[in-house]
Amino acid sequence: MKILVINGPNLNLLGLREPQYYGSETYADLCEKIHAHAQKTGVEVAFFQSNHEGAIVDEIQAAYRVYDAIVINPAAYTHTSIAILDAFKSVKIPAVEVHISDLSKRESFRQFSYLRDYCLAVIIGHGTDGYCEAMDLLRERLG
Ligand code: DQA
Repeated sequence: MKILVINGPNLNLLGLREPQYYGSETYADLCEKIHAHAQKTGVEVAFFQSNHEGAIVDEIQAAYRVYDAIVINPAAYTHTSIAILDAFKSVKIPAVEVHISDLSKRESFRQFSYLRDYCLAVIIGHGTDGYCEAMDLLRERLG
């Protein structure tokens, strides 16, 4: 099974940005953790991070017939991007949405997700472990 992990804007600054919400692990630490989990569970994994909405749309389109599933943390685009939702609806790749912080305890503008209804599940507030949980869920449902 091939899974693509997409991270949206500012997640390249993990470790630096608002550690009270996102913890002290860096983006490199996150990729290492996911990679180790993928190896342990027999999943092939690839990573993409961008601060640009269109680049994320391009990556979702390019994933068509290449990846079996996508784990995505759209970051701030969660709350704004119809384009990312439309890309998923076009390629129909199964996806799980992940958020590191507990959005239910944060600002009202973070309570809405355009992508939520498309996704098989949304994992919120489990820190970076949420990405591994998302991969397990996809493996169980699709594997
Ligand atoms: C986030 C939550 C978003 O509201 C925020 O814009 C992010 C990260 C999370 O992982 O908790 O950049 O998606």
